[in-house]
Amino acid sequence: MSKYDKLFEPVTLANGVQLKNRFMFAPMCDDSSDGGKVTDQQMRYMKPRAAHVGIADTGYAYVNDSGIQLPGQLSAAHDSDVPGLSRLATTMKIGGAKAILQLSHAGRGAGGSVAKGERVYAPSKLPFPWLNYDVDEMSKEDIQQVINDYREATKRAIAAGFDGVEIHNCNHDLLQQFFSASANHRTDEYGGSREKRMALPLAVLRAVKETVAASGNPDFIIGWQISPQEKHGDKLGYDVDDMLAQTDEAAKIGFDYLNISLNLSADYSNSVRPSYDIKVKGTDLSFPAYYRAAVGDRVPIFIGSNVLTADDALAAVTDADGVYVGREMLMDPDFVQKIADGQADEIINTTTIEHLKEVGLPDGFVENYADTDGSSRVVSYRNGIPLPGLD
Ligand SMILES: Cc1cc2nc3c(=O)[nH]c(=O)nc-3n(C[C@H](O)[C@H](O)[C@H](O)COP(=O)(O)O)c2cc1C
Repeated sequence: MSKYDKLFEPVTLANGVQLKNRFMFAPMCDDSSDGGKVTDQQMRYMKPRAAHVGIADTGYAYVNDSGIQLPGQLSAAHDSDVPGLSRLATTMKIGGAKAILQLSHAGRGAGGSVAKGERVYAPSKLPFPWLNYDVDEMSKEDIQQVINDYREATKRAIAAGFDGVEIHNCNHDLLQQFFSASANHRTDEYGGSREKRMALPLAVLRAVKETVAASGNPDFIIGWQISPQEKHGDKLGYDVDDMLAQTDEAAKIGFDYLNISLNLSADYSNSVRPSYDIKVKGTDLSFPAYYRAAVGDRVPIFIGSNVLTADDALAAVTDADGVYVGREMLMDPDFVQKIADGQADEIINTTTIEHLKEVGLPDGFVENYADTDGSSRVVSYRNGIPLPGLD
């Protein structure tokens, strides 16, 4: 008996599939694909980190060439990606984890597409003073194409042997841009009221759901990832209740688990380091407790952020069913195994660049963290979400 036993209880997803424990290796772009293709470094990095969790997520994989945020991002946009993805899925499943391919489209944030000479588009053509490239307003054909590209990417995930996909409906990606009143000024059926602004995210979920149904594999997992709020100073993209309403509609279509990303939610991440135990403003409810109203008991909820110790992980599953662990498992790939073995006090909580190399972080990833002024990359997570203890 250990006080951490609860973390090692199985979790049943909405489609009946069981995860062997409550840990998720959080989705993290490792900046190390080669033109979107899986590299050996990525395989070496992923293997020990997926080995002991119940569910392991890849970093976001773009569904088409107009949706690339970072040059080292994974691709799920081409059939030629399938062999590499298949090697990655096989590696992720070695220890019994369910292997999940995260699917994304960066919309206006597709700086990686610009570098490839691709067109960048968004729900509306607005001034984007922080971007040094043109952004088109999406036509109806573009929207249909994106929905179709999620379908095709899901087929590739299935062909590659992944256990599921997670839809990245968050972190200022295209789907979030559609839901945001500040980014979406459309007057057609994809913009305007809250219901119309959720039309694209829901259409993507429906398309993925249909693709899974047509595959004849009811065990294939669909994860739905949200950012609970979008705020820019006084300007509101949407609030926690808007996202609750969207999640409610999405749950009617059906997904197998909810991943609540606290990462880039203003109010929760800008002033304070986002943490698994923060409360929804104006309430004494945690985010999993608040969003339970939309998904009920059948859909497990994952929460995380700033989980650095076994006690953090245990506290995170007070209201949630599972806990995602990101940066801590970059530093210590054995995080889960140490808790299982009664060695929680040996978990590594601080790091150095040398240590990151020793524990198998791909070169591009290490570079990000070594890049103290954030200048050498389009996005430096070093600035946004630094590793604890790395100065
Ligand atoms: C280097 C890095 C890359 C990330 N890439 C992604 C990503 O591709 N998709 C995503 O949904 N979240 C991404 N995130 C956010 C993490 O999944 C997670 O929500 C965040 O790091 C907070 O958890 P943590 O404190 O355990 O790291 C990334 C975070 C980091 C540090």
